[in-house]
Amino acid sequence: MSGCCPLVCTLLLGFCVSTLASEGTSGSNSSHPNVVILLIDDLGIGDVGCYGNDTIRTPSIDRLAGEGVLLSHHVAGAPFCTPSRASLLTARYAQRFGLVGEFRTPPVIVHVASRVGIPLEEPTIGHAFEAAGYTTHFTGKWHLGSRCGLFGRNCTGPLDYGFDSTLWLPTTLLPRSYGNYTFWVLEEETLFFHATGWTSLLTLITVAVLVHMRLPRLAVVLCLLTAACLLLVWFILAHYRFYTPAWHQVSPWMDHYLNGVVMNRSEVVDQPMQLHTLNERLTNNTVHFIRSHHNASKPFLVVHSFGHVHTPIVTAPENRGRSKHGRYGDSIEEMDDSVGEILNTLDELGLANNCVVYLVSDHGGHLESLGEDGQRTGGYNGLFKGSKGQGGMEGALRVPGIVRYPGIVPKGSRLDTPTSLLDTLPTLLQLAGLPALHKLLPHNSRAEDVDGLSYAPLLMEVGKGVAPQPMLEGRMLLHHSGLFVDAVRYITGEHVYKLHLRQPVFSPGSYQCGWGEMTFCRPWFGGEHVHDMTQHPLLYDLTTDPYEDNPIDNSTSEYQQVEERIQRYLKEWEERVPYPSSQFNVKMDTMLLPWLQPFKKGWFF
Ligand SMILES: *[C@@H]1O[C@H](CO)[C@@H](O)[C@H](O)[C@H]1NC(C)=O
Repeated sequence: MSGCCPLVCTLLLGFCVSTLASEGTSGSNSSHPNVVILLIDDLGIGDVGCYGNDTIRTPSIDRLAGEGVLLSHHVAGAPFCTPSRASLLTARYAQRFGLVGEFRTPPVIVHVASRVGIPLEEPTIGHAFEAAGYTTHFTGKWHLGSRCGLFGRNCTGPLDYGFDSTLWLPTTLLPRSYGNYTFWVLEEETLFFHATGWTSLLTLITVAVLVHMRLPRLAVVLCLLTAACLLLVWFILAHYRFYTPAWHQVSPWMDHYLNGVVMNRSEVVDQPMQLHTLNERLTNNTVHFIRSHHNASKPFLVVHSFGHVHTPIVTAPENRGRSKHGRYGDSIEEMDDSVGEILNTLDELGLANNCVVYLVSDHGGHLESLGEDGQRTGGYNGLFKGSKGQGGMEGALRVPGIVRYPGIVPKGSRLDTPTSLLDTLPTLLQLAGLPALHKLLPHNSRAEDVDGLSYAPLLMEVGKGVAPQPMLEGRMLLHHSGLFVDAVRYITGEHVYKLHLRQPVFSPGSYQCGWGEMTFCRPWFGGEHVHDMTQHPLLYDLTTDPYEDNPIDNSTSEYQQVEERIQRYLKEWEERVPYPSSQFNVKMDTMLLPWLQPFKKGWFF
């Protein structure tokens, strides 16, 4: 076979896509289709009907798959929300800009009032579609940085990354987003009582001396000062944790009231957020946006980023107990209803045919997640091993993904070629018949250096009995834990290989690390959390062994050739793409800084 065939095929196909995409769109004001991204949080690939779950009801997602292409080998950009969402929005590994965890840091952004996030210079899906003349809207969970100014003013959110309007959650749902928490608590009691005791004694003696010296005013000032100091000490001990190894954490009260925030543009509209109505509120917002823009001259991009199905699992009262899988199942079914509502809106307005819909989960389900009542509150990853947070494990990475574009993408088909969330931006641009990213953003040098590839040509070809396109031939996908590469996926010929270099140290006999809502394996910490296999990496052929049960014998020439090829690639990669250290390493940027906290009007002052 001639070496340049893949390139020629790709170019030809790319041309076909653009031509077809612009031809297949009559009846609307614009030649380019609207684009709707439905991003679900923590949904496992085993949680969805069209991926084989026969007890959970997801009729709307199943319908979407029936009308589009089901991606059977779709992988997350990272095993955690923040970095995976960053890879979806920018088409670049979050390691390139340090938006990943490192030793003793959180793996994601944890506070609204912090200074970490996607650098403003990164190209994003918002910037790209904005440059292409789209109206852009973002609804829901952002979790990519809010970097507010003094007193929570001018927060940096979707509007600063190319979106025209937004109703957004700066961070995410947190265990403490739900429940009642009190402000007047006492942590580190012994320490606090010691501090109070000694300070009071000292003050008392000084006051006595001052009174004796006939300086009563000074004595009063001193008393007030001491009280203020003690109050401050109490507050820090009770509501911060920076004097412990979990330095980035805050008290349940702080989490509940300060991080449970919903914002409309840069104004707080809900604080603490009301979880049982959140899903409805977000759905209504997206539906409202679509309704008010369906007649506009410009096409639109809307990203609907669900709060569901992340913990704490809270649904509207009428949905409680409707599923066969407890709270978690209820949350999936409620989320599916919202998918249905958005699809129905497109139908009703006659927009469905000129619209690309992409539905995806940010990474695998959280196997360890268990509520206090013993109910499972995390997703199911089918037979894939491992869970959310585990960089190289298939259960953390393999996600449901569906693309619908009537008339362009064959309906009811399935694409088995590996694709990634990193590919979202280039793929959607090509499907929509728009120029490539570096052409849309010519002044952004980072737009030339993206890790994602467009699989639009594959989507169009799929199910037509044509041989699979070689366009992704030789592709390597890196799977990280923090800044480490845990595994590499390599597409070559008929094969998809995966090489494991590091794996978490699991609880014996399992692919998880215990149970609990905040329990994870912590491979990004390194050290005792990791089983280092760099000397004897495990290699699997996912085409014949998708669940990674039988590693390829390392004495075979197949193993040696593939391993050598991957190691060579890694070496070149490390030389070419140096990673900055984690943004979360800078404590003053990662911690909750009260003077940057946004508040709902009238809530505090
Ligand atoms: C369906 O999803 C539920 C909830 O995650 C899970 O407990 C169950 O095992 C899944 N069933 C199948 C057949 O995959």
